[in-house]
Amino acid sequence: MDEKNEDRRRDEFIVTPWEVKGVVDYERLIEQFGTETITDEILGMLQKYTGELHPFLKRKIFFSHRDLKWLFNEYEKGNQFFLYTGRGPSGNTHLGHIMPWIFTKWLQDKFDCELWFQMTDDEKFYFNQKLSLEETHKFAYENALDVIALGFNPKKTFIFSDIDISGYLYPLAARVAKRITFSTVKATFGLQNDANLGQIFFTSMQAVPAFLPSVLRKRNIPCLIPHAIDQDPHFRIARDVIPKLGYYKPASIHCIFLPGLKEGGKMSASIKESAIFTTDPAPDVKKKIWNAFTGGQATAAEQRKFGANPDICSIYKYYFCLFMWDDKELKELRNKCTGGDILCGECKQILLKKVVSFLEEHQRKREAARDQLDKFIVTYEDLISGNV
Ligand code: TYM
Repeated sequence: MDEKNEDRRRDEFIVTPWEVKGVVDYERLIEQFGTETITDEILGMLQKYTGELHPFLKRKIFFSHRDLKWLFNEYEKGNQFFLYTGRGPSGNTHLGHIMPWIFTKWLQDKFDCELWFQMTDDEKFYFNQKLSLEETHKFAYENALDVIALGFNPKKTFIFSDIDISGYLYPLAARVAKRITFSTVKATFGLQNDANLGQIFFTSMQAVPAFLPSVLRKRNIPCLIPHAIDQDPHFRIARDVIPKLGYYKPASIHCIFLPGLKEGGKMSASIKESAIFTTDPAPDVKKKIWNAFTGGQATAAEQRKFGANPDICSIYKYYFCLFMWDDKELKELRNKCTGGDILCGECKQILLKKVVSFLEEHQRKREAARDQLDKFIVTYEDLISGNV
């Protein structure tokens, strides 16, 4: 692609909770969404509380936030926060989804705090014309296995399906919904007049868990929401409304997207061959990685002579985001790549081994999680009896 076309593509990117298109310019997104860059000052505060910085922070994979400084000031005063994140269960979990969850688990370990995890089976029913409510509800439980497999603390982690606990959520969502107009929803999400009523209403449901623990515990508790930047529009609205109900504005911390294995764009469950799912068997992973887009040259001879381009390579992004957290090792790989000392086939082979070994372990834990579901799942009865 020539430079002009690349510039045009950069100008044309779209990020909404339901669509990511084009080459995302994250700095411009910070301006567009009105979030803040994670500065060295914020990193310093995190380092002070956690003793070390997660590679996601050092590499600026988590790059943006809302109100972290406020959250840490409250923390310093002894006002402990809870974590809130979620999943729209429209199918199997892919490696992109688990990026924010891996980070959330790290935060839970470091700050020893509660996690409230929302499965929006209602959302995926409203937004996906092909899925029934029974299917999204079933995926909620399947996806919960991936969350549990990552090792969250069962005593402090509460996973719930919107449908299961709708009786508890609905009166709270109604209070949010009354304060959001249709024109705000249209302007924030780009929904048009052909949107169904569930889609228009849905953001009220995603707002509720940001103050649900405050309602349950009858005191105002700060909330931190880790997620990829695509979900920010929901919380922009939530932050306007929640203080009007008497609760703190939720703080949030945002990551970039793990790209798909094809050229450009985020890893997306709807483009199956571009995404590695946590349930994929090794031969499927092999096929996907083998067919992945790289920054390599047309021939081995050219590659040895001119080197390859890691900055556009999906394989390199996988090392960078998830599979090579040692900075020295990554730098060496990068030098080999640009210097023509490694060919794409060899590089794919090494990644394949790492991905397959991660998935084998994850799949084992995922199956074991079936017996642990009841330690994590919150029911309507739990909520009304105060058993949480
Ligand atoms: P969902 O299911 O689209 O995504 C789940 C989480 O994964 C993030 N994500 C990604 N992160 C990195 N790389 C990618 N390629 C990638 N694709 C998705 C999402 O930002 C999200 O954090 N409506 C939500 C469910 C939800 C939620 C929440 C998410 C309910 N409450 C609170 C975050 C925080 C959804 O459909 O997520």
